[in-house]
Amino acid sequence: MRNGGRLKVGVLLSGGGTNLQALIDACAAPGFPAEIALVLSNKAEAYGLERARRAGIPTTVVDHRPFPDRPSFEREIDRALADAGVECVCLAGFLRVLTEGFVERWHDRMLNIHPSLLPAYKGLETHARALADGVAIHGCTVHFVRPALDDGPLIAQAEVPVHPGDDPAMLAARVLTREHEIYPLALRLMGEGRLSVEGETCLIDGHPGPMRLRWNDAPPIGG
Ligand code: GRF
Repeated sequence: MRNGGRLKVGVLLSGGGTNLQALIDACAAPGFPAEIALVLSNKAEAYGLERARRAGIPTTVVDHRPFPDRPSFEREIDRALADAGVECVCLAGFLRVLTEGFVERWHDRMLNIHPSLLPAYKGLETHARALADGVAIHGCTVHFVRPALDDGPLIAQAEVPVHPGDDPAMLAARVLTREHEIYPLALRLMGEGRLSVEGETCLIDGHPGPMRLRWNDAPPIGG
């Protein structure tokens, strides 16, 4: 654990928040080095907010629609994060494009989870594209956020096998299970102060990452 206690995390989301739930569950474990200080959504109806409330985590809604531009919307987000004492941001299905200014303010302090083995399949519809290509192994990635879409130093990746007869929904469900393993794992590494970035490579305990969970590995214990 870092000096000064648990890392204060702000989670940004727009939807159901199963990844948020995985982070909530991980943070509840004794000795986990991070705590969720705020869950922020641009959508009031996001079920992730309900998950946070049930866990007793402060929530806020910053609706993007009244703001004239992205920077003013993001200033409001920054204010909410600062008020909550957030030190690290986890994007968990936050469906707004972030400006370079916001991303750079959180340089090496903002994580994202993406449903592919980056750098393959940046962008949307990753599962359908992987199936169309006939890949045998697919997966998910946690990475530090950079201004370019789904770019940035890779922290952790988990593979899943692609089975004959899979459709995008089946593959998405298999990948999502592994997302719930690697997001807590990456946050644990972050909270323990074991991550650094050198030349856009994430180092874990000084060794080049990412941490890779192979498709036939057992899940990590305790995230
Ligand atoms: C996940 O597929 C994640 O990879 C992507 O957004 C989705 C969020 O799902 N970035 P959930 O709301 O955590 O269930």
